[in-house]
Amino acid sequence: MKHPRWSFALLGLPVAVAALVLLTAPVAVTQAQSAAGPLPPGPGVELIYAKCTVCHPIQQVVASQGIPAFLWDDTIDLMKRLGLKATAEEEQTIRTYLKTYMGPEPPPTDTASAGTSDATTTPPSSGTTVAQAPEVDGAAVFDANCSACHQASGEGIPGTFPPLAGHAPDLFKADRDYLPQVVLKGLQGSIEVGGSSYSGFMPPWPNLSEAEVAAVLNHVLTSWGNDELLPADAQLYTSEDVARLAGVEADTSELRQGLTLEGP
Ligand code: HEC
Ligand code: HEC
Repeated sequence: MKHPRWSFALLGLPVAVAALVLLTAPVAVTQAQSAAGPLPPGPGVELIYAKCTVCHPIQQVVASQGIPAFLWDDTIDLMKRLGLKATAEEEQTIRTYLKTYMGPEPPPTDTASAGTSDATTTPPSSGTTVAQAPEVDGAAVFDANCSACHQASGEGIPGTFPPLAGHAPDLFKADRDYLPQVVLKGLQGSIEVGGSSYSGFMPPWPNLSEAEVAAVLNHVLTSWGNDELLPADAQLYTSEDVARLAGVEADTSELRQGLTLEGP
């Protein structure tokens, strides 16, 4: 076959997801765009995460950052031939996002991805009392960064994006350090959750502050009935927990395999 790697686009999602392992294996998860995270925030960014990671990791898109608008149009035409599914309206949003935020002259990213942290725009105070870190809204961080894949309901998409509802407390109980490490370092490898297998890829989130990582995980652990699955004395995360773990090397796939889970 001439283009063996493309054939999976015709065979439907399970095969595509299996093929993802092959496609992603050599991808180095470097976050060259320091503070920018995988994708710059902008209208429609969640569509890119949802539609473009069905067949390859988001790094495939990030790698083309800076190409001229007409090449983005060509790329989307190609992705459509390969099997990208989107309504006309979604397609328009995708094209506009890519040409605006992933083109040669993106607008300055003055809004944090979650829209909650002013840390980068607040000028350093000179001698005045340092203000308390702004209260971070974990639900807003989740909506901006996680819901495209794990869904607003936390239920994920069976076989593609694992659920966090009914599952995150199990991970928390098995190893309290695991959840922050997954958000900090990403996860790639085969996992089983609730009888479905996932061989996907989750990017790391270097654009989230330590406070945002703690807040989003606390949101996950206390939403969708998850709070009822937590031990009564559960210690939710603090920024300090996340800061400590950020300095700890970890192979999250190995960590995951070492966990003993109670759930299915
Ligand atoms: C149905 C599967 C599928 C979907 C959905 C998909 N792609 Fe792709 N994409 C591919 C395949 C297959 C390749 C080719 C990989 C290769 O040859 O290296 C690819 C390659 C790419 C490349 C690299 C192109 C090049 O010339 O090197 C970019 C950029 C890209 N995709 C962007 C996107 C964007 C943006 C989206 C979402 C709007 C998207 N893809 C959605 C299957 C898909
Ligand atoms: C681009 C899609 C995508 C986004 C966005 C995303 N995830 Fe994930 N996440 C995944 C995939 C895919 C996996 C499973 C990876 C695998 O199969 O190895 C995963 C796994 C996880 C796991 C581990 C589940 C387990 O059983 O070990 C946690 C926890 C998690 N994600 C939390 C988050 C949080 C919190 C966010 C937002 C900061 C987030 N994810 C954003 C796709 C995503």
